[in-house]
Amino acid sequence: MPKTTWKPGTMLYPVPAVLVTSRFEGKDNIITVSWAGTVCTEPPMLSISLRPERLSYTMIRGSGEFVVNLPVEKIARAVDFCGVKSGRDTDKFAAGRLTKARAHKVAAPLIAECPVSIECRVSRVIELGSHHMFIADVLAVNVEERLIDKRGRLRLEDARLLCYSHGQYFSVYRPLEKFGFSVRRKKRAAPSGRKRREEPRK
Ligand SMILES: Cc1cc2nc3c(=O)[nH]c(=O)nc-3n(C[C@H](O)[C@H](O)[C@H](O)COP(=O)(O)O)c2cc1C
Repeated sequence: MPKTTWKPGTMLYPVPAVLVTSRFEGKDNIITVSWAGTVCTEPPMLSISLRPERLSYTMIRGSGEFVVNLPVEKIARAVDFCGVKSGRDTDKFAAGRLTKARAHKVAAPLIAECPVSIECRVSRVIELGSHHMFIADVLAVNVEERLIDKRGRLRLEDARLLCYSHGQYFSVYRPLEKFGFSVRRKKRAAPSGRKRREEPRK
């Protein structure tokens, strides 16, 4: 198939659209972030990239902490709202009807409506250009109990998470196959006593 070549730009899609919460000098805030990703498995680390002009940038640089909350399609409106309004003039928790919950390791609040909230501490900041990348250690992961089945497996596929692709929000999932399906032999049970990994080693 022929392809057209464009000038350099951001085109790595889909990406997450997460709600990042912070607390600094007695104020709580939320920012929608798409330039976010896992950057290391062990120790678990992730990154978010922010423009210095964001209020959240000042708050996270000041506090050295933040929480990445994974939103669901039900709160898509709040996700968009937190991405177009600044906490300088709006209380986004109140306006977005989002509920604060206590974190365990950081001062910033979790968002109760998000099924997964990841508590993070900044380990370094890389000033890249338009965005500065905050690389952070994951200190704790909070998961909604409703999504954990009787065998202790997290059924994230039931959460209806949200993602972002080229200017549009999408609902994740129509499940396809489980990881490793391309090489798996048919109907072979895992040897007893050995639990299959839920995710590939990355
Ligand atoms: C889907 C979406 C993704 C966004 N991703 C980022 C991002 O990765 N980094 C960033 O600095 N701003 C991003 N923004 C813009 C901020 O969310 C927006 O400027 C926000 O109002 C800043 O809030 P604050 O000033 O309260 O921190 C995004 C906005 C939307 C709608």
